[in-house]
Amino acid sequence: MRRHLDFLGLTLTLDELDERLAWATRERPGATVLLEHVLGLEAARKLEDRIARRVHVSGLVERKALEAFDWNFQPKLDKALILELARLDFVRRRDDLVITGKTGTGKSHILKAFGLRACEQGVRMRYARCVDLLDDLHAGLADGSYARRLKAWAAPALLIIDDVGLGQVKKRGDEPTAAHTLYNLIDRRHSKVSTAVTSNIALSDWGRFLGDATLTAAILDRLAMHAIRIDIDGPSYRQHVAAERAGQRPAVSPPSA
Ligand SMILES: Nc1ncnc2c1ncn2[C@@H]1O[C@H](COP(=O)(O)OP(=O)(O)OP(=O)(O)O)[C@@H](O)[C@H]1O
Ligand SMILES: [Mg+2]
Repeated sequence: MRRHLDFLGLTLTLDELDERLAWATRERPGATVLLEHVLGLEAARKLEDRIARRVHVSGLVERKALEAFDWNFQPKLDKALILELARLDFVRRRDDLVITGKTGTGKSHILKAFGLRACEQGVRMRYARCVDLLDDLHAGLADGSYARRLKAWAAPALLIIDDVGLGQVKKRGDEPTAAHTLYNLIDRRHSKVSTAVTSNIALSDWGRFLGDATLTAAILDRLAMHAIRIDIDGPSYRQHVAAERAGQRPAVSPPSA
């Protein structure tokens, strides 16, 4: 049996074999229960490993879950809509999604949670902050890998472009503007695969951020055509956490006379 398990690559079952056999001798489970008990553990481990690999290659640096989202803190947000979107049917419909709102309102948290769901469901997904995505493509101009990189970003069933409007879009002399680069990508993806974007600046300010008003209008025209739009109008969770921390700090006692 040990040889079989080793050959089949069932390493966890192999490690746990003695314990499982002792359990079976003790509890005398039926054949189905025994098989379920033994195979279930290995299957769960393999699934978790697979999800971890997908998370790693997707560029998602942290795992955020909707289970950790405090809905009461953001009462104007339509919880039912977010939970419905989290099923990722919009990805299968090739719809785009644009979430806007002030800083700290949970936009990135929600899209990162969608990204994690995609990894769990085996939906091909890539995640990047807008500035990092642009940097990657512009690096391709320098070393001749632009076309390959553009193709790679254009391919995933779901591309999450986080934080449009945050950070500095770097531009060296002869490089195309960020708007030009983003336009090329969005135009390739439009109607074929789904793109989800967050931004804490108004869409009307994207032109200034991306450096070209006409091309930005073309990007927004494409995104707006199919996009599901959500605007989170509410307080910043970061400020809430900071205020709570400040409240917890022990009061400074006045100097003694
Ligand atoms: N309602 C919430 N419940 C629990 N955690 C939240 C909630 N909203 C935000 N957070 C947490 O607060 C932090 C900031 O949220 P997030 O990064 O999603 O904000 P954002 O809207 O993307 O802001 P920015 O526009 O600055 O990028 C994160 O750690 C996030 O997990
Ligand atoms: Mg954000």
